[in-house]
Parts: sequence; structure tokens; C-alpha cells
Amino acid sequence: MTPAARLQAAIEILDHVLTGEPAEKALTSWGRRSRFAGSKDRAAVRDHVFTALRCLRSHAALGGARSGRGLILGALREAGQDPDEVFTGQGHAPAPLSGAERSLPKAPEGPEALDIPEWLWPEFSSSLGSNAEAAAHAMRKRAPVHLRVNRAKVSLRQAQESLAAEGIVTTPHPAAETALEITEGARKLRNAKAYLEGLVELQDAASQAVVAQLPLNDGMKVLDYCAGGGGKSLAMAARAKIRLFAHDADPRRMKDLPGRAARAGARVSLLEGAELERSGPYDLVLCDVPCSGSGSWRRAPEGKWRLTRENLQELHRIQAEILRKAARLATEGGTLAYATCSMLDGENTVQVQGFIQEYPEWTLAAEQSWQVQDGTDGFYVAVLTRAKGGC
Ligand SMILES: C[S@@+](CC[C@H](N)C(=O)[O-])C[C@H]1O[C@@H](n2cnc3c(N)ncnc32)[C@H](O)[C@@H]1O
Repeated sequence: MTPAARLQAAIEILDHVLTGEPAEKALTSWGRRSRFAGSKDRAAVRDHVFTALRCLRSHAALGGARSGRGLILGALREAGQDPDEVFTGQGHAPAPLSGAERSLPKAPEGPEALDIPEWLWPEFSSSLGSNAEAAAHAMRKRAPVHLRVNRAKVSLRQAQESLAAEGIVTTPHPAAETALEITEGARKLRNAKAYLEGLVELQDAASQAVVAQLPLNDGMKVLDYCAGGGGKSLAMAARAKIRLFAHDADPRRMKDLPGRAARAGARVSLLEGAELERSGPYDLVLCDVPCSGSGSWRRAPEGKWRLTRENLQELHRIQAEILRKAARLATEGGTLAYATCSMLDGENTVQVQGFIQEYPEWTLAAEQSWQVQDGTDGFYVAVLTRAKGGC
């Protein structure tokens, strides 16, 4: 495919995404229809689509329309490329620009230029303070690829050597002792021996740092209350010889966890429904709650535009309810850890303060947050301990 044909493919895919189709699904359908596309074409088209989604507001403004063509036109204008060189109508290139498309729109400003939804900007900027603009800028770029080294199996250096032998160059990431950042060869990871043998897992460095904050010791009984695919379950299992249990309101999300655990040399018991109530109490309960995902919008940029004020309020309600339910499963003197991949105070500090006010037997032992402009996903964790004798 020519560069212009790749952009035309991105235009068509974006038009589907803008009608509500998930980006991954739209890319897969295009891939099936486009057997002629090689792996480099697919990677390039994917990059165009995800760049457009990360920068949806500003590129739509620069391109004069919230459409596939508008977004690609806006991207070219931002990159300082002459759109007439791409919109030629020749071969499989996009059709030539219309008169209306040719007129240069006003440059975007404020939250529009920063690609943050207008309604969210007040909360985003008050949560991030003087870092708000830097964080918004960082979210317009592609996320780095981080690995967690399974220290139960291998040292950081050994993992790096094994990856390097297959052309994957890494460097240690300062956010967590287990973290590596891939600087070259990320696309080779899925077939690399170190990955297939469970020496490394894909996991953002801040997600690893969250687990590093947890007071885990050998012999502890631990529950991952919102386990999902089990990224944090596996990170906890690698840190200490714990008795690990995993639960999720949607058990299908844990379907890959037993296989991943086996690969990592870990053991985890999955709990569903009434099993959960019978299984406690636990020394530590981790609630990695559902959230806006604002800390990982570089990876999943559609979330930034699909989130509404109403969804966010509903998430606040769910988060508070999970905290209440999970707290009941902790032992006296036990620990409750609350984590989000969000940078919004309403989902983080405000949620934890509200819980402590309602349940004063819990006290805040530690709290930390990570922000995207520092080179990781945005994350938050609060570690709470329960006074002995509390209910
Ligand atoms: C942020 S994700 C978890 C990610 C996972 N811990 C990891 O590190 O890979 C949140 C999970 O919470 C689950 N969830 C949503 N509502 C829940 C509830 N009321 N109780 C338990 N889990 C819930 C979702 O199904 C989702 O899998």
C-alpha cells in the first residue's frame, strides 16, 4: 500500500469508529477485507487510527470536521505536511480536497488543543493542577511499552539478555524495580522466548509500582477483588509466597488467568458468586476498581471521548460500593488497597476520604499517584489498615 492508501484506509476505519464501533473491531474487520495489506501496512494504518483517536478534538478542529477525512486532514496540517500531496484521488489515495476542506480553520485553543473533553476540563485541571497541560500533552502521544520481569523466575539482567538475544532492546524503568521499557523491537515480543516462558509480562510500570506499595508477606491470604485479566494478581504472586484468590463481577474477564498464572509459575484460586462470601477473611484485599481509565487513555483513547458526566458519576457510585463490600472481607487488623488507573481526584482521594469518614476504623497508611507526563500510565493507590476490634 502507498502511504496515501494507508491514510485512506484509516479514514474509512475512523468513519466506522465515529459511528460507535470499537476501534479494535473496526481494525479487525478492515484487516479481514484487506488481504492485500502486509504487516507493515496494518501497523501503519493502526498508528494513523490511534493517533487520530488520541487527538480527536484538535485534529477535527484543524481538519474542519469530525469525520475520517477531517481527522486525517487535521493530522497532516498539524504535522506541517501539504494535504494536496496526499488527497490526490489517484490510485487508492483519498479524493481531492473540496473547497470547504481547503479553507483553513481557526487554530484550536485550550482544552480543544489539549484534546480533553470540554465538560471534563475543570475536574481534569483541578486534579492535576500545574501538571494538567503536560499530562494532556503526554496523552496525545503513543504510550511506551513496559514489561514486568517475573523476579520469581529471573533477574532483571537475565530477562534483558534473553530479550536482547531476540532483538528486543530494553532499559530499566525507574517507577518500579521489576519494570523494563522496550526501546526497540516491541513487535517481536509475542513470539519471544522470555514472554512465552513467563519470564516477562506486559504491564505498565505504574501498575507494577502499585503492587510494590502493598504490604505483602509470605503466608498471607490475599484477595484480588476486581481481578479482570489478573495483571495485578500475577504481580502480587511474584512478590511473595501468598495464598492468592481472584474475583471479578464478570468472571469471563478472568478466563485467561489460570493459563497466565501457570506460565508465570503462580497459583491462584478463582472465586465466583457465593464462594466469595465463604472464602474470607483476608489479610489483604486489593480493589483495582473500574474507573474512567483517564490514566490509560493513550492506550485506549476512545475512552476519553465516550466518558460522560453521567458515566463518571455512576463509576463513583460503583467504586464506593466496591470499597464497602471489599472492606467486609478483610481481617481485623487487615489491609484494604484501593487502586485506579485514573488521575481524577473524584475517583481517587475523594473516594478514599469518603470511605474513611464513613468507616473510621480504617486509617490511611500510604497513598501514591503516578501521572502520564512522568512516563507511565496514570495510577493511584491508597493502602488502608483496619484497627483491631473494628467492625
Ligand atoms: C481496572 S479493571 C481490573 C484490572 C486488573 N486488576 C488487572 O490488573 O489486570 C476492573 C475490573 O473490575 C471488575 N468489576 C466491575 N464492577 C465490579 C464489582 N462490583 N465487583 C467486582 N469487580 C467488578 C470489572 O469487570 C473489571 O474487570
